[in-house]
Formats: sequence, C-alpha cells, structure tokens
Amino acid sequence: MQKKRVFLTRTLHEFALKELKKKYQIEVHTGKIPIPKNILKNKIKNIDGLICFPYDKIDNELIDFGSNLKVISTYSVGFDHIDIDYAKKKKIRVGYTPKVLTNATADLAFGLMLDLVRRISEGDRLIRNGEWKQIFGAYDYVGIDLQGKTLGILGMGRIGGTLAKRAKAFDMKIIYHNRNRISKNKEKTLGAKYVSQNKLITQSDILSIHVPHTSETDQMFNNKIFKKMKNSSFLINTSRGKIVNEKDLSIALKNKIISGAGLDVFESEPIGKNHPFTKISNIILAPHIGSSSKETREEMAKIAVKNLNLGINGKNPIYSVGF
Ligand code: DGY
Repeated sequence: MQKKRVFLTRTLHEFALKELKKKYQIEVHTGKIPIPKNILKNKIKNIDGLICFPYDKIDNELIDFGSNLKVISTYSVGFDHIDIDYAKKKKIRVGYTPKVLTNATADLAFGLMLDLVRRISEGDRLIRNGEWKQIFGAYDYVGIDLQGKTLGILGMGRIGGTLAKRAKAFDMKIIYHNRNRISKNKEKTLGAKYVSQNKLITQSDILSIHVPHTSETDQMFNNKIFKKMKNSSFLINTSRGKIVNEKDLSIALKNKIISGAGLDVFESEPIGKNHPFTKISNIILAPHIGSSSKETREEMAKIAVKNLNLGINGKNPIYSVGF
C-alpha cells in the first residue's frame, strides 16, 4: 500500500523527521521562509497531512486545494494563521501545541519585564556603543523594583497564570482581566485580583498581554488605550504582534505616554534593523522566542507529530481546534 503523504513547510528536529519517515512519504520545504503561497498551493494538492508554522497563512483558498488533506498540525500554540472554521467545514482536523510551551513563554514575559524595568539590555547597548563613561552615579541608569509594583495580566489562561506565579515570588501585586473570571481558589493560589479591563489598563505598572489574536483583540492596544495607561507603566507582549498598533506604540514611547515596552512579537515578522522600534531606547525587542527553549521546542515537535498521526487517521489530535 502506498504511504500517505505529509508535507512540512519547514524542517523539524531529526527525531521527528525520523518518526514521520517510518509511516509516511514526507517532503520538507527547504527554500524561502515562509514558503511562498504558490508553492504551498501545489504541494497541498497531493498530501494527506500538513505540518506548518505560525507564520504560514493557511486560508480558505489554500485549504480548497487540499482535496485529500485530513489534518493540519501547527507547530505553535497560536492558530490565528489558520482558517479554523473553513478547515472544520472541509472536515480537516487542526492540531496545535499548547501546555508544553507555557513555562517557556511565561519565563520570557517575565524576563522581558525584569530586563525592561532594570534596563539591562539598554545598559548592554550603552556599553557596546562606548557610552559608559563614569561609574555608579546616584541617578545613573536607574530603573525600578518589581517588588510592590502592580502586574496587570490580560488573559488569565495557562501562560498568564504561570506568569502570575513568577510575579508572586517577586512580591508583586497581581491584577488580571479575563473573559471569564477564574475560580476564587485559583485567584487565592495565584494571589491575583480580578478587575475590569479598564481598571487593568489604568492601574497596572506593568501590563502583560496573554490573549490570542482575534478580530476582537486586533489593534486593541492603540493610542486611546496608551493614553489611559500610567505614564510610568510598561507594556509586555509575547502573544501576537497584531494586538498592538505599532505606530501608536512608537508615538506613546517617544512622547513618554508610557515608560517602556518589551516585545517578542510584531505586526509583521521578522522586523529588520530599520524598523522604527530599533530607534527607540525604552523598548526591548526579542525575535519571537517565547517558546524557544531546547526542551520546549522538542516537546512541541513531539506533539505536532502526534497530532498529525491522529488526524491523518481520522482521529482528533491530542490538542485539537475546531472539532
Ligand atoms: C506560538 O507557539 O504560537 C508562539 O507564538 C511561539 O513562540
């Protein structure tokens, strides 16, 4: 019997490829990243399963070419790049990789926050530019303590909750807003207080975004919101770039409407050295590395393969969207 066909829009770990090769006829895209749409359109015509990445736009037009396609397995927790409703309509299962990347992403959000308030990356840039002239002045490179500051968490899911645990250990006050309030028990364990979205915006010293990108959250952080935030506040985004209006954020940072931002995600990635953010000092930029620890990326690969195996055989992936 002919092996089923699987296409990967980019390579994965050796162990994952080895496992896939045992069962399927696989092809891995090695060219331009993201894979150009016309190439993917051609590939998708003949395959049973697809492994894709968070920057591959899997829209309805593309899905229509997948007449044999049974499963789309994305190597990411985010799935806003896939037209889930349309995949469902076409009876194509969609798997994703939540849970395994919770700690890594919360760690990165915390790292950005600590770096930002203590100006670590800013200091690094200063030394590299030969601008560290005198030592230890009373006002030199002064940041703020995390202790006693209010961390506002927008989206108290797995990653938001894990960030709260880390913040609690640093003696921060934690407030959160979520579509659904979490249980009183959980609030107590995390030391987190539920507030309205407006209070979250106006009261946070540091506001960290942990909601997915949807039509409701698209460009949610804009001029109007920045004006409501404290002038001394900081914004952290490890979710999706399109939740923040980058032009408005640049203006807010330059005019000290807010104090700083730590970003792992951008409206369009990758950003280059000419992006306006690179000219702003009170911002820290990371190249979308929320889940990028060795352990986490390996776990994600295992789940992506398992999801594919299940979906290709007409079963629900371990982590399934839509079905
Ligand atoms: C995801 O998996 O969606 C993350 O953005 C990767 O860091």
